[in-house]
Amino acid sequence: MFADLHQLSHHAAWRRQLEMLLESAGEGIYGIDLNGRCIFINQAGAGVLGYTPDEVLGRNMHYLIHHSHANSDLMPVHDCRIFNAFREGRGCRVDDEVLWRRDGTSFPAEYASYPILDGAAVVGAVVTFSDISVRKRTEMALQASHAELERRVAERTAALTTARDGLRRLAAHHHRVREEERAHIARDIHDELGASLTALQLDLNWLRQRLSADAELNNHVMRMLDVAGTAMGAVRRILGDLRPGILDHAGLWAALECLLADTQTRTGLACRYACPPEVEAVRLGKDAEIAVYRIAQEVLTNVQRHARASSVSLDACIEHRDLVLALADDGCGMQMPAQPATFGLMGMRERALALGGTLDIDSAPGAGTRVRLRLPGALA
Ligand SMILES: Nc1ncnc2c1ncn2[C@@H]1O[C@H](COP(=O)(O)OP(=O)(O)OP(=O)(O)O)[C@@H](O)[C@H]1O
Ligand SMILES: [Mg+2]
Repeated sequence: MFADLHQLSHHAAWRRQLEMLLESAGEGIYGIDLNGRCIFINQAGAGVLGYTPDEVLGRNMHYLIHHSHANSDLMPVHDCRIFNAFREGRGCRVDDEVLWRRDGTSFPAEYASYPILDGAAVVGAVVTFSDISVRKRTEMALQASHAELERRVAERTAALTTARDGLRRLAAHHHRVREEERAHIARDIHDELGASLTALQLDLNWLRQRLSADAELNNHVMRMLDVAGTAMGAVRRILGDLRPGILDHAGLWAALECLLADTQTRTGLACRYACPPEVEAVRLGKDAEIAVYRIAQEVLTNVQRHARASSVSLDACIEHRDLVLALADDGCGMQMPAQPATFGLMGMRERALALGGTLDIDSAPGAGTRVRLRLPGALA
Protein backbone atom coordinates (compact mmCIF):
# COMPACT_ATOMS: atom_id res chain seq x y z
CA MET A 1 0.00 0.00 0.00
CA PHE A 2 2.83 2.35 0.80
CA ALA A 3 5.29 1.05 -1.73
CA ASP A 4 4.60 3.85 -4.17
CA LEU A 5 3.71 6.41 -1.60
CA HIS A 6 5.87 9.01 -3.18
CA GLN A 7 4.01 8.91 -6.48
CA LEU A 8 0.63 8.27 -4.95
CA SER A 9 0.97 11.06 -2.49
CA HIS A 10 1.35 13.44 -5.40
CA HIS A 11 -1.94 12.37 -6.87
CA ALA A 12 -4.62 14.69 -5.47
CA ALA A 13 -7.45 12.10 -5.40
CA TRP A 14 -5.25 9.55 -3.61
CA ARG A 15 -4.02 12.17 -1.17
CA ARG A 16 -7.59 12.98 -0.20
CA GLN A 17 -8.45 9.28 0.15
CA LEU A 18 -5.40 8.72 2.31
CA GLU A 19 -6.15 11.77 4.43
CA MET A 20 -9.73 10.58 4.96
CA LEU A 21 -8.46 7.15 5.89
CA LEU A 22 -5.98 8.62 8.38
CA GLU A 23 -8.56 10.90 9.95
CA SER A 24 -11.23 8.21 10.24
CA ALA A 25 -8.92 5.89 12.21
CA GLY A 26 -9.60 5.93 15.93
CA GLU A 27 -5.97 5.51 16.88
CA GLY A 28 -3.04 7.80 16.30
CA ILE A 29 -1.11 7.30 13.08
CA TYR A 30 2.05 9.07 12.00
CA GLY A 31 4.78 8.53 9.47
CA ILE A 32 8.51 9.21 9.83
CA ASP A 33 11.36 9.44 7.38
CA LEU A 34 14.73 7.80 7.82
CA ASN A 35 15.83 10.59 10.14
CA GLY A 36 12.82 10.00 12.37
CA ARG A 37 11.11 13.24 11.34
CA CYS A 38 7.34 13.29 11.11
CA ILE A 39 6.07 13.30 7.54
CA PHE A 40 2.39 13.01 8.44
CA ILE A 41 0.19 12.59 11.49
CA ASN A 42 -3.56 12.33 11.84
CA GLN A 43 -5.67 14.68 13.92
CA ALA A 44 -6.52 12.01 16.52
CA GLY A 45 -2.84 11.14 17.05
CA ALA A 46 -1.72 14.75 17.41
CA GLY A 47 -4.67 15.41 19.78
CA VAL A 48 -3.74 12.53 22.09
CA LEU A 49 -0.23 14.03 22.31
CA GLY A 50 -1.55 17.54 22.97
CA TYR A 51 -0.52 19.07 19.62
CA THR A 52 -2.05 20.08 16.34
CA PRO A 53 -0.76 18.12 13.33
CA ASP A 54 1.10 21.20 12.03
CA GLU A 55 3.05 21.49 15.27
CA VAL A 56 4.30 17.94 14.89
CA LEU A 57 5.14 17.81 11.19
CA GLY A 58 8.91 17.85 10.62
CA ARG A 59 9.75 17.18 14.28
CA ASN A 60 11.86 14.22 15.36
CA MET A 61 9.24 11.92 16.87
CA HIS A 62 11.63 10.09 19.15
CA TYR A 63 12.76 13.27 20.86
CA LEU A 64 9.24 14.69 20.86
CA ILE A 65 7.17 11.83 22.31
CA HIS A 66 9.38 8.83 23.03
CA HIS A 67 12.43 10.33 24.73
CA SER A 68 12.12 8.77 28.17
CA HIS A 69 11.06 5.62 29.97
CA ALA A 70 8.08 5.61 32.34
CA ASN A 71 10.43 6.33 35.27
CA SER A 72 11.75 9.41 33.38
CA ASP A 73 15.14 7.80 32.63
CA LEU A 74 16.23 8.94 29.20
CA MET A 75 15.76 6.49 26.34
CA PRO A 76 18.67 6.86 23.91
CA VAL A 77 17.60 6.68 20.29
CA HIS A 78 19.65 3.52 19.76
CA ASP A 79 17.37 1.79 22.31
CA CYS A 80 14.22 2.87 20.48
CA ARG A 81 12.53 -0.21 19.19
CA ILE A 82 10.75 1.66 16.39
CA PHE A 83 14.01 2.90 14.92
CA ASN A 84 15.81 -0.36 15.35
CA ALA A 85 13.00 -2.26 13.69
CA PHE A 86 12.41 -0.06 10.66
CA ARG A 87 16.14 0.37 9.98
CA GLU A 88 16.28 -3.41 9.63
CA GLY A 89 13.15 -3.39 7.44
CA ARG A 90 11.07 -5.07 10.18
CA GLY A 91 7.88 -4.14 11.92
CA CYS A 92 7.42 -4.22 15.67
CA ARG A 93 4.64 -4.16 18.23
CA VAL A 94 5.19 -2.80 21.74
CA ASP A 95 2.81 -2.41 24.67
CA ASP A 96 5.08 -1.88 27.66
CA GLU A 97 6.31 1.67 27.06
CA VAL A 98 4.98 5.17 27.52
CA LEU A 99 4.62 8.10 25.12
CA TRP A 100 4.97 11.71 26.29
CA ARG A 101 2.47 14.52 25.84
CA ARG A 102 3.19 18.16 25.19
CA ASP A 103 2.42 19.03 28.84
CA GLY A 104 5.18 16.70 30.11
CA THR A 105 2.87 13.93 31.23
CA SER A 106 3.10 10.41 29.86
CA PHE A 107 0.61 7.65 29.14
CA PRO A 108 1.02 3.91 28.68
CA ALA A 109 0.83 3.23 24.97
CA GLU A 110 0.59 0.39 22.58
CA TYR A 111 2.28 1.09 19.29
CA ALA A 112 3.14 -0.78 16.13
CA SER A 113 5.51 0.33 13.43
CA TYR A 114 5.68 -0.84 9.82
CA PRO A 115 8.51 0.00 7.43
CA ILE A 116 7.66 2.11 4.36
CA LEU A 117 9.37 0.61 1.36
CA ASP A 118 10.34 2.31 -1.86
CA GLY A 119 11.05 -0.70 -3.98
CA ALA A 120 13.36 -2.76 -1.78
CA ALA A 121 14.65 0.25 0.14
CA VAL A 122 13.23 1.33 3.47
CA VAL A 123 12.39 5.02 3.35
CA GLY A 124 10.65 5.45 6.67
CA ALA A 125 8.00 3.95 8.89
CA VAL A 126 4.34 4.28 9.72
CA VAL A 127 3.54 4.12 13.41
CA THR A 128 0.08 3.50 14.86
CA PHE A 129 -0.42 4.13 18.57
CA SER A 130 -3.14 4.28 21.19
CA ASP A 131 -3.49 5.22 24.81
CA ILE A 132 -3.94 2.00 26.83
CA SER A 133 -4.17 3.60 30.29
CA VAL A 134 -7.60 2.07 30.91
CA ARG A 135 -6.42 -1.38 29.85
CA LYS A 136 -3.29 -1.11 32.02
CA ARG A 137 -5.32 0.10 34.99
CA THR A 138 -7.72 -2.83 34.55
CA GLU A 139 -4.79 -5.23 34.23
CA MET A 140 -3.20 -3.82 37.37
CA ALA A 141 -6.48 -3.99 39.26
CA LEU A 142 -6.90 -7.58 38.10
CA GLN A 143 -3.36 -8.42 39.15
CA ALA A 144 -3.92 -6.77 42.52
CA SER A 145 -7.17 -8.64 43.11
CA HIS A 146 -5.51 -11.86 41.98
CA ALA A 147 -2.63 -11.27 44.41
CA GLU A 148 -5.15 -10.43 47.14
CA LEU A 149 -7.06 -13.61 46.39
CA GLU A 150 -3.87 -15.68 46.53
CA ARG A 151 -2.92 -13.99 49.81
CA ARG A 152 -6.33 -14.81 51.28
CA VAL A 153 -6.20 -18.41 50.03
CA ALA A 154 -2.71 -18.80 51.54
CA GLU A 155 -3.92 -17.25 54.81
CA ARG A 156 -6.96 -19.52 54.91
CA THR A 157 -4.91 -22.60 54.01
CA ALA A 158 -2.44 -21.77 56.78
CA ALA A 159 -5.31 -21.33 59.25
CA LEU A 160 -6.89 -24.61 58.16
CA THR A 161 -3.53 -26.40 58.38
CA THR A 162 -3.01 -25.05 61.88
CA ALA A 163 -6.53 -26.09 62.86
CA ARG A 164 -6.05 -29.54 61.32
CA ASP A 165 -2.69 -30.00 63.08
CA GLY A 166 -4.33 -28.93 66.32
CA LEU A 167 -7.16 -31.42 65.84
CA ARG A 168 -4.66 -34.13 64.99
CA ARG A 169 -2.68 -33.43 68.17
CA LEU A 170 -5.92 -33.34 70.12
CA ALA A 171 -6.96 -36.72 68.65
CA ALA A 172 -3.56 -38.22 69.53
CA HIS A 173 -3.81 -36.81 73.05
CA HIS A 174 -7.36 -38.12 73.36
CA HIS A 175 -6.23 -41.62 72.32
CA ARG A 176 -3.39 -41.53 74.85
CA VAL A 177 -5.61 -40.33 77.69
CA ARG A 178 -8.21 -42.95 76.80
CA GLU A 179 -5.63 -45.73 76.88
CA GLU A 180 -4.28 -44.51 80.22
CA GLU A 181 -7.80 -44.39 81.63
CA ARG A 182 -8.57 -47.85 80.32
CA ALA A 183 -5.36 -49.20 81.88
CA HIS A 184 -6.27 -47.51 85.15
CA ILE A 185 -9.80 -48.95 85.18
CA ALA A 186 -8.43 -52.37 84.20
CA ARG A 187 -6.00 -52.25 87.16
CA ASP A 188 -8.79 -51.29 89.56
CA ILE A 189 -11.12 -54.03 88.30
CA HIS A 190 -8.31 -56.56 88.43
CA ASP A 191 -7.19 -55.63 91.94
CA GLU A 192 -10.57 -55.13 93.56
CA LEU A 193 -13.07 -57.29 91.69
CA GLY A 194 -10.60 -59.98 90.63
CA ALA A 195 -9.24 -60.41 94.15
CA SER A 196 -12.76 -60.48 95.70
CA LEU A 197 -14.03 -63.05 93.21
CA THR A 198 -10.99 -65.23 93.80
CA ALA A 199 -11.54 -65.01 97.56
CA LEU A 200 -15.23 -65.86 97.02
CA GLN A 201 -14.34 -68.90 94.90
CA LEU A 202 -11.86 -70.12 97.56
CA ASP A 203 -14.44 -69.69 100.31
CA LEU A 204 -17.13 -71.48 98.32
CA ASN A 205 -14.74 -74.37 97.66
CA TRP A 206 -13.93 -74.52 101.38
CA LEU A 207 -17.67 -74.59 102.15
CA ARG A 208 -18.40 -77.27 99.54
CA GLN A 209 -15.80 -79.58 101.06
CA ARG A 210 -17.47 -79.28 104.45
CA LEU A 211 -21.00 -79.82 103.14
CA SER A 212 -20.36 -83.05 101.25
CA ALA A 213 -23.05 -84.89 103.24
CA ASP A 214 -25.88 -82.49 102.39
CA ALA A 215 -26.75 -82.92 98.68
CA GLU A 216 -29.14 -79.99 98.44
CA LEU A 217 -26.76 -77.55 100.08
CA ASN A 218 -23.97 -78.98 98.01
CA ASN A 219 -25.89 -78.33 94.78
CA HIS A 220 -26.58 -74.81 95.90
CA VAL A 221 -22.90 -74.11 96.57
CA MET A 222 -22.03 -75.67 93.19
CA ARG A 223 -24.42 -73.21 91.49
CA MET A 224 -22.81 -70.36 93.42
CA LEU A 225 -19.40 -71.56 92.28
CA ASP A 226 -20.68 -71.58 88.70
CA VAL A 227 -21.91 -68.00 89.03
CA ALA A 228 -18.59 -66.95 90.54
CA GLY A 229 -16.76 -68.72 87.68
CA THR A 230 -18.92 -66.97 85.05
CA ALA A 231 -18.35 -63.62 86.76
CA MET A 232 -14.60 -64.31 86.77
CA GLY A 233 -14.74 -65.13 83.05
CA ALA A 234 -16.62 -61.87 82.36
CA VAL A 235 -14.08 -59.90 84.38
CA ARG A 236 -11.23 -61.46 82.37
CA ARG A 237 -12.97 -60.61 79.07
CA ILE A 238 -13.63 -57.03 80.15
CA LEU A 239 -10.04 -56.70 81.32
CA GLY A 240 -8.81 -58.05 78.00
CA ASP A 241 -10.95 -55.50 76.12
CA LEU A 242 -9.86 -52.63 78.32
CA ARG A 243 -6.18 -53.42 78.27
CA PRO A 244 -4.91 -56.54 76.55
CA GLY A 245 -2.45 -57.66 79.23
CA ILE A 246 -0.67 -59.84 76.72
CA LEU A 247 0.53 -56.64 75.01
CA ASP A 248 2.45 -55.70 78.13
CA HIS A 249 3.68 -59.21 78.89
CA ALA A 250 4.41 -60.70 75.49
CA GLY A 251 4.44 -57.75 73.09
CA LEU A 252 2.53 -56.72 69.98
CA TRP A 253 3.05 -59.80 67.84
CA ALA A 254 1.85 -62.29 70.42
CA ALA A 255 -1.11 -60.00 71.16
CA LEU A 256 -2.06 -59.83 67.47
CA GLU A 257 -1.74 -63.60 67.06
CA CYS A 258 -3.93 -64.04 70.13
CA LEU A 259 -6.47 -61.51 68.81
CA LEU A 260 -6.80 -63.45 65.55
CA ALA A 261 -7.03 -66.79 67.35
CA ASP A 262 -9.77 -65.40 69.64
CA THR A 263 -11.67 -63.99 66.65
CA GLN A 264 -11.52 -67.37 64.93
CA THR A 265 -12.78 -69.17 68.05
CA ARG A 266 -15.59 -66.72 68.66
CA THR A 267 -16.80 -66.20 65.09
CA GLY A 268 -15.71 -69.20 63.04
CA LEU A 269 -14.00 -66.80 60.60
CA ALA A 270 -10.80 -68.40 59.24
CA CYS A 271 -8.01 -66.18 60.56
CA ARG A 272 -4.44 -66.43 59.26
CA TYR A 273 -1.47 -64.79 60.93
CA ALA A 274 1.77 -64.49 58.95
CA CYS A 275 4.66 -62.71 60.56
CA PRO A 276 8.27 -63.68 59.81
CA PRO A 277 10.76 -63.90 62.72
CA GLU A 278 12.65 -60.74 61.67
CA VAL A 279 9.41 -58.78 62.03
CA GLU A 280 8.53 -60.45 65.32
CA ALA A 281 11.88 -59.18 66.63
CA VAL A 282 10.77 -55.56 66.07
CA ARG A 283 9.52 -53.72 69.17
CA LEU A 284 7.75 -50.40 68.65
CA GLY A 285 7.40 -48.99 72.14
CA LYS A 286 4.38 -49.14 74.43
CA ASP A 287 2.27 -46.34 72.94
CA ALA A 288 2.92 -47.38 69.34
CA GLU A 289 2.16 -51.04 70.07
CA ILE A 290 -1.18 -50.26 71.69
CA ALA A 291 -2.05 -47.98 68.73
CA VAL A 292 -1.23 -50.71 66.18
CA TYR A 293 -3.18 -53.21 68.25
CA ARG A 294 -6.22 -50.90 68.34
CA ILE A 295 -6.05 -50.43 64.56
CA ALA A 296 -6.01 -54.23 64.06
CA GLN A 297 -8.87 -54.56 66.56
CA GLU A 298 -11.00 -52.01 64.63
CA VAL A 299 -10.23 -53.73 61.30
CA LEU A 300 -11.29 -57.10 62.70
CA THR A 301 -14.43 -55.61 64.27
CA ASN A 302 -15.33 -54.09 60.89
CA VAL A 303 -14.77 -57.43 59.16
CA GLN A 304 -17.11 -59.14 61.61
CA ARG A 305 -19.74 -56.41 61.43
CA HIS A 306 -19.76 -55.47 57.76
CA ALA A 307 -17.73 -57.76 55.49
CA ARG A 308 -19.67 -61.07 55.47
CA ALA A 309 -16.22 -62.60 54.90
CA SER A 310 -15.14 -66.21 55.32
CA SER A 311 -11.48 -65.45 55.99
CA VAL A 312 -9.18 -62.70 57.11
CA SER A 313 -5.40 -62.57 57.13
CA LEU A 314 -2.72 -60.49 58.75
CA ASP A 315 0.61 -60.22 56.95
CA ALA A 316 3.51 -58.27 58.40
CA CYS A 317 6.71 -57.56 56.52
CA ILE A 318 9.63 -55.16 56.27
CA GLU A 319 9.85 -53.01 53.11
CA HIS A 320 12.95 -50.78 52.90
CA ARG A 321 13.18 -50.48 56.69
CA ASP A 322 9.43 -49.68 56.91
CA LEU A 323 7.14 -51.97 58.82
CA VAL A 324 4.11 -52.87 56.71
CA LEU A 325 1.09 -54.55 58.22
CA ALA A 326 -1.66 -55.71 55.87
CA LEU A 327 -5.05 -56.98 57.00
CA ALA A 328 -7.20 -58.38 54.20
CA ASP A 329 -10.61 -60.01 54.11
CA ASP A 330 -12.46 -61.78 51.30
CA GLY A 331 -15.81 -60.18 52.07
CA CYS A 332 -18.27 -57.95 50.24
CA GLY A 333 -15.93 -54.93 50.07
CA MET A 334 -17.21 -51.36 49.86
CA GLN A 335 -17.30 -48.25 47.73
CA MET A 336 -14.44 -46.20 49.16
CA PRO A 337 -15.31 -42.61 50.09
CA ALA A 338 -12.88 -39.94 48.78
CA GLN A 339 -12.22 -38.96 52.39
CA PRO A 340 -13.12 -41.23 55.29
CA ALA A 341 -15.96 -39.55 57.17
CA THR A 342 -16.88 -42.28 59.65
CA PHE A 343 -15.23 -42.49 63.01
CA GLY A 344 -13.89 -46.03 62.78
CA LEU A 345 -11.93 -45.39 59.57
CA MET A 346 -10.96 -41.85 60.64
CA GLY A 347 -9.73 -43.10 64.00
CA MET A 348 -7.51 -45.72 62.35
CA ARG A 349 -6.03 -43.12 60.01
CA GLU A 350 -5.45 -40.64 62.84
CA ARG A 351 -3.71 -43.27 64.93
CA ALA A 352 -1.48 -44.15 61.97
CA LEU A 353 -0.63 -40.47 61.37
CA ALA A 354 0.11 -39.93 65.06
CA LEU A 355 2.68 -42.75 64.73
CA GLY A 356 4.26 -40.95 61.75
CA GLY A 357 2.82 -43.60 59.46
CA THR A 358 0.15 -43.96 56.80
CA LEU A 359 -2.94 -46.08 56.45
CA ASP A 360 -4.35 -47.04 53.06
CA ILE A 361 -7.63 -48.82 52.52
CA ASP A 362 -8.11 -50.64 49.28
CA SER A 363 -11.61 -51.92 48.62
CA ALA A 364 -14.31 -52.21 46.00
CA PRO A 365 -17.77 -53.79 46.06
CA GLY A 366 -17.38 -57.56 45.76
CA ALA A 367 -13.57 -57.44 45.96
CA GLY A 368 -12.89 -57.66 49.71
CA THR A 369 -11.06 -55.06 51.76
CA ARG A 370 -7.36 -54.61 52.42
CA VAL A 371 -6.00 -52.23 55.02
CA ARG A 372 -2.29 -51.44 54.87
CA LEU A 373 -0.51 -49.72 57.72
CA ARG A 374 3.00 -48.48 56.94
CA LEU A 375 5.34 -47.26 59.67
CA PRO A 376 8.41 -45.67 58.08
CA GLY A 377 11.80 -46.40 59.58
CA ALA A 378 10.38 -48.82 62.18
CA LEU A 379 13.47 -50.97 61.71
CA ALA A 380 15.98 -48.11 62.11
N1 LIG B 1 -14.05 -54.83 55.94
C1 LIG B 1 -15.12 -54.16 55.48
N2 LIG B 1 -15.92 -54.74 54.55
C2 LIG B 1 -17.01 -54.07 54.06
N3 LIG B 1 -17.37 -52.81 54.45
C3 LIG B 1 -16.64 -52.22 55.39
C4 LIG B 1 -15.48 -52.83 55.96
N4 LIG B 1 -14.92 -51.98 56.84
C5 LIG B 1 -15.70 -50.89 56.83
N5 LIG B 1 -16.73 -51.03 55.97
C6 LIG B 1 -17.76 -50.02 55.63
O1 LIG B 1 -17.25 -48.76 56.01
C7 LIG B 1 -18.14 -48.13 56.90
C8 LIG B 1 -17.38 -47.28 57.87
O2 LIG B 1 -16.63 -48.05 58.77
P1 LIG B 1 -16.27 -47.45 60.20
O3 LIG B 1 -15.45 -48.41 60.94
O4 LIG B 1 -15.71 -46.09 59.99
O5 LIG B 1 -17.69 -47.25 60.86
P2 LIG B 1 -18.63 -48.33 61.53
O6 LIG B 1 -17.90 -49.63 61.64
O7 LIG B 1 -19.90 -48.36 60.69
O8 LIG B 1 -18.94 -47.70 62.94
P3 LIG B 1 -17.90 -47.60 64.17
O9 LIG B 1 -16.60 -48.18 63.76
O10 LIG B 1 -17.82 -46.14 64.46
O11 LIG B 1 -18.54 -48.35 65.27
C9 LIG B 1 -18.93 -49.24 57.52
O12 LIG B 1 -20.19 -48.81 57.95
C10 LIG B 1 -19.03 -50.23 56.40
O13 LIG B 1 -20.10 -49.90 55.52
MG1 LIG C 1 -15.97 -49.70 62.60
